Amino acid sequence: MKNINPTTTAAWKELQAHYEEIKDKHLTDLFKNDKRAEDFSILWDTFYVDYSKNRITQETMTLLLKLAQEVGLQEGIESFFGGKKINATEGRAVMHTALRDESDNAFAKAEVDSVKKSIQTFTEKVISGAHKGATGKEITDVVNIGIGGSDLGPVMVVEALQYYKTRLNTHFISNVDGDHVMETIKDLDPETTLFVIVSKTFTTQETLSNATTVRKWFVDKVGEDAVKNHFVAVSTNAEAIANFGISQDNVFPMWNWVGGRFSLWSSVGLSIALAVGYDNFKGLLHGAFKMDEHFKNTPFEKNLPVIIALLSVWYNNFFKVETEAVIPYSQYLHRLPAYLQQAIMESNGKSVDRNGERVSYETGNIIWGEPGTNSQHAFFQLIHQGTKLIPADFIGFKKSLHGEKSHHDKLMANFFAQTEALMNGKTKDQVIAELQAGGLSPEAIKELASFKVFEGNKPTTTILGEALTPESLGALVAMYEHKIFVQGVIWNIYSFDQWGVELGKQLAKQVLSDMDNDKMTSHDSSTRTLLERYKL
Ligand code: F6P
Repeated sequence: MKNINPTTTAAWKELQAHYEEIKDKHLTDLFKNDKRAEDFSILWDTFYVDYSKNRITQETMTLLLKLAQEVGLQEGIESFFGGKKINATEGRAVMHTALRDESDNAFAKAEVDSVKKSIQTFTEKVISGAHKGATGKEITDVVNIGIGGSDLGPVMVVEALQYYKTRLNTHFISNVDGDHVMETIKDLDPETTLFVIVSKTFTTQETLSNATTVRKWFVDKVGEDAVKNHFVAVSTNAEAIANFGISQDNVFPMWNWVGGRFSLWSSVGLSIALAVGYDNFKGLLHGAFKMDEHFKNTPFEKNLPVIIALLSVWYNNFFKVETEAVIPYSQYLHRLPAYLQQAIMESNGKSVDRNGERVSYETGNIIWGEPGTNSQHAFFQLIHQGTKLIPADFIGFKKSLHGEKSHHDKLMANFFAQTEALMNGKTKDQVIAELQAGGLSPEAIKELASFKVFEGNKPTTTILGEALTPESLGALVAMYEHKIFVQGVIWNIYSFDQWGVELGKQLAKQVLSDMDNDKMTSHDSSTRTLLERYKL
């Protein structure tokens, strides 16, 4: 991988000058060129991605693509897929793409295929009822116990693919909040429940505490001997699993070359395969594989992950926007923004470059969002009329899964209308004309008009898919994964480590031991007083 400060490239400097030229240009004016939708769109597989409602010109894209060349993106992609140790601070390759690679010479193919086979065999047994609980009953409920990448990917996909659900009910316990644990298990029948403990390291405090509490609850009710029929684990840490009391036969392995937040394609996806069936899990992987091939082999100017990453760099580093919204117009995708928060912010929330130096430019953006149309009635006011510029991805599908055409037309009418409204806004003249037509007096119009003006010029990218299927979801998620990679290359940071979560973990351990001790270790006056009040 090249190691280049992006701000030293010729393209960066040209982009800076170019930004000064176009920063005040209005999208409505840019659209006077009617070829814009054609110029700035990509049709790939079942997706049509329109990025013409972004504050760009041909020159912007030429310069952004030049930036990608100058920082060595092509070489970066080759290192990534070639299994180089691009996660240098942990000395690891980043090979989650191997988990969905369908080619004959895929990395670690034999091991990956064998784990997939065991996932298939096990999930089919549970779904068919052949795998019984210890008292001879069929499994009806599955509880995934994990956090971060061992929770967010599975829960996002299981929610997204509810339409494809098997007869099993899936639940998720992630927070160390005991109320979350108890609330989840209170109505479950331990005799018909399967617990899937997911932790790459098997050292995560939350997961181990939750798993221990659940195991105790289970043993109290059904007995120790029953554990083998009801507890399975997904991890790289065989020893810790054995210590926890789960036998080797019930372990689904994963590998260090799969990062937690990129792991839903691995055994971490066991709950997904249980929830929607192995064939649908395979479909998810297939969609991701197709996106990997597209990313690897497509010229950058037609390459979806590259284009969306460059647009994000454009806003983040030149317009200096702080946040990006992801608005799925599908209730099924309600956990996608939360999933992307970890994927994107844990990856690119870095302030030190690949030389270990403090960066002098902005890196990871803040990701947030909620499904439309609900979000229109919540935070869209701020996107339309607030002072902040918030580029947004709008994700929608042509078909409704349940075939509710009239609902779907309304949903999608909002989807299209919002991006148009955000782009064009409404001028004062338009507002005045409307108010006059409504019969308002000149005085009333004068008082009201400015509040009703929409500046517009708010950028959006529209991602329009055919239908939400396992395959299209896989492709969508892989697209965002690769966006993360491209941005990491441009910002010259290590996207695949996460040292920033360690300090809080260490301090939490210290604080926990202080709760039990009469004498506290040293804390600042605020933390000490808070702790004292908690202990009262
Ligand atoms: O939040 C830090 C983190 O290490 C994530 O990267 C990871 O997904 C999560 O904790 C859970 O880790 P594990 O799967 O090892 O329990």
